[in-house]
Amino acid sequence: MSGINYSEKIPNNVNLAEDRTLQRALEHWQPNYLSWWQDMGPDGSQNFDVYLRTAVSVDPQGWAQFGHVKMPDYRWGIFLNPAEQDRKIHFGDHMGEAAWQDVPGEHRANLRRIIVTQGDTEPASVEQQRHLGLTAPSQYDLRNLFQVNVEEGRHLWAMVYLLHKYFGRDGREEAEALLERRSGQDDNPRILEAFNEKTPDWLSFFMFTYFTDRDGKFQLCALAESAFDPLARTTKFMLTEEAHHMFVGESGVSRVIQRTVDMMNQLKTDDVAKLRAAGVIDLPTIQRYLNFHFSVTIDLFGADQSSNAATFYSSGLKGRYEEGKRTDDHVLKGQSYKVLEVVNGQVKEKEVPMLNALNEVLRDDYITDSKGGVERWNRVIEKAGIPFRLTVPHKAFHRNIGTLAGTKVSPDGRVISEAEWNAKVDEWLPTGEDRAYVASLMGRVGEPCKFANWIAPPVMGINRQPVDFEYIRCN
Ligand SMILES: [Fe+2]
Ligand SMILES: [Fe+2]
Repeated sequence: MSGINYSEKIPNNVNLAEDRTLQRALEHWQPNYLSWWQDMGPDGSQNFDVYLRTAVSVDPQGWAQFGHVKMPDYRWGIFLNPAEQDRKIHFGDHMGEAAWQDVPGEHRANLRRIIVTQGDTEPASVEQQRHLGLTAPSQYDLRNLFQVNVEEGRHLWAMVYLLHKYFGRDGREEAEALLERRSGQDDNPRILEAFNEKTPDWLSFFMFTYFTDRDGKFQLCALAESAFDPLARTTKFMLTEEAHHMFVGESGVSRVIQRTVDMMNQLKTDDVAKLRAAGVIDLPTIQRYLNFHFSVTIDLFGADQSSNAATFYSSGLKGRYEEGKRTDDHVLKGQSYKVLEVVNGQVKEKEVPMLNALNEVLRDDYITDSKGGVERWNRVIEKAGIPFRLTVPHKAFHRNIGTLAGTKVSPDGRVISEAEWNAKVDEWLPTGEDRAYVASLMGRVGEPCKFANWIAPPVMGINRQPVDFEYIRCN
């Protein structure tokens, strides 16, 4: 079951060959996917041999194989975790019933929407990142970017498989539409706002993979609990790949900080102008990027109170993060949860029915998880003996979705006037000048053992290869 059949046009472990209609439909979608990749995938690098990992099994031990491959030849395929025997629904109104192997009619529209929304983020991030290959700080980083990109492409395959197999004609139409929307395009944008933002430079890329790919992790974890078993199994395998994306972000930001604090100690200064003259990214700028990516990402969890969230949970479509490890009744009726609201010019907590607050529950779990890496970044600063701490802004800061949208709140959680916001926003969010400065540092470093001046080399290479391994052959 865990073996993947690579002799077919579409590698898979779902016995695709036994379902000729489905196989034909997906083989028909495949060239459209490849032409999307040619148009919207990594710019100017289709001919490179890239040291990539490819899934060869869904066994957690040794699931991937590494080797040089041209990205358009990457074997994108359909890989589901093995089925759990007699799996039962373990939350919501259907608790205790057998997990669904097919889509119940009454949940069809909601499930399709969940799958399409998840699927849409995958190609979106590839589009957002398509120019970054031109300015990679090293071959090692370029390889990591491409690895993330090909795997986001595979995540699209994961969702498209479900659409084709379980949703008939509407599913096929949705699969086409996933190749037609474009990140940031006015007339046919991607579904979620954070996926229409630009990822203009590598600091943004590292912040994106740390914060926004982590949103992916939490959404996938919630879907991995789903009563719809094929969705649970496919998202479980996606999570295996996702871990590396967050590693790229966390270690990337950490290396930027390392380089900055080394330079601060070398020049014995925290003066932003002097540090910029020395070609590193000052810590206040890193904090502003963090504030931006954190706030834009927590919006992705949706409105703080949502009847859809309640429906998705009660009907078994989407669980909570680590649903199986929780000790409550997994039905949640009559329970409450604290969300934020603004009363008399102050951010206050209020209790609401938990079922309606499940977006907030997931957002809070996400926030706890994302603080961990920020603390590890602080240790790099501390170790260098520099009195500066990065912080995660208040949950109400710079929000665009839910009750808090439109209220001006400082990073420390004070409701402020429009005037104060305007006076201080340049201290809190990246300015045009910050972005122009960071952009001025970007430029491709092609040699295997070289790293751009603004980032420290990693401690280790990929797949136990040396840091200066030839990760990319440019041909
Ligand atoms: Fe993904
Ligand atoms: Fe990802």
